[in-house]
Amino acid sequence: MQSVFHSRLHVAVIMDGNGRWAARRGWPRARGHEAGVEAIRRVAEAAPEHGVGTLSLYAFSADNWRRPKAEVRALMGLFRLYLRTETARLVRDGIRLTVFGRRDRLPDGIPEAIGRAEAETAGGTRLHLRIAVDYSARAAILAAAIQARACGGVGREAFRRLVTGEPAPPDVDLLIRTSGEQRLSDFLLWESAYAELFFTERMWPDFGAEDLAQALAAFRARDRRFGGLAEPVAAA
Ligand code: IPE
Ligand code: IPE
Ligand code: MG
Repeated sequence: MQSVFHSRLHVAVIMDGNGRWAARRGWPRARGHEAGVEAIRRVAEAAPEHGVGTLSLYAFSADNWRRPKAEVRALMGLFRLYLRTETARLVRDGIRLTVFGRRDRLPDGIPEAIGRAEAETAGGTRLHLRIAVDYSARAAILAAAIQARACGGVGREAFRRLVTGEPAPPDVDLLIRTSGEQRLSDFLLWESAYAELFFTERMWPDFGAEDLAQALAAFRARDRRFGGLAEPVAAA
């Protein structure tokens, strides 16, 4: 059975530009990441009103381990704080939180905190908030291929579930990237096969409900054909 989230939109966001946002103000990059957490709150709060059922946010990529130790530490500290302070608000707002990506390389205590937050928010039905941490789409696809082979091969739907993990989200409808960059940086490659792409110059810490509304308006004006034709035409 499809979950309550499947009849609504799946929006994915590559939250980019925190560091440049801070640097332009002469502040340390970590301050940009702090402001980025505020943007997560704003967008998660606004999303259900705009018909979004699933919101997937790229918080930390598998390649982000290449950053200086101090920045990685600051990001992990913020994530830990988010899990500790945000869970009650998520429960209140009916938001289900799940985290995807590798957990075995995260600092001590974080995998347990993720498990607690996921368990406490499991009843939320207004929005499925998915946060990607230590995530690589190519690694997820490769792991799924290895599992599929061990099963002697699986069909497309079963393979999709191996790629996405549980609870399996619908395909991405709209993928937004902030900060002017126009690339996918190894995010949700399988799930975004037919996603509409929306790039904005807005830095993530400045992103808010109005930006989300603007992106969704652009999305709704697009013509999604999925390989078919826009208008019904007489058979040739
Ligand atoms: C996005 O902002 C957050 C993470 C990747 C963790 P950045 O930290 O990439 O900010 P810029 O792109 O350097 O401005
Ligand atoms: C992608 O942003 C990862 C996240 C937003 C978490 P990056 O800033 O790390 O991506 P690149 O290096 O510009 O491609
Ligand atoms: Mg960046």
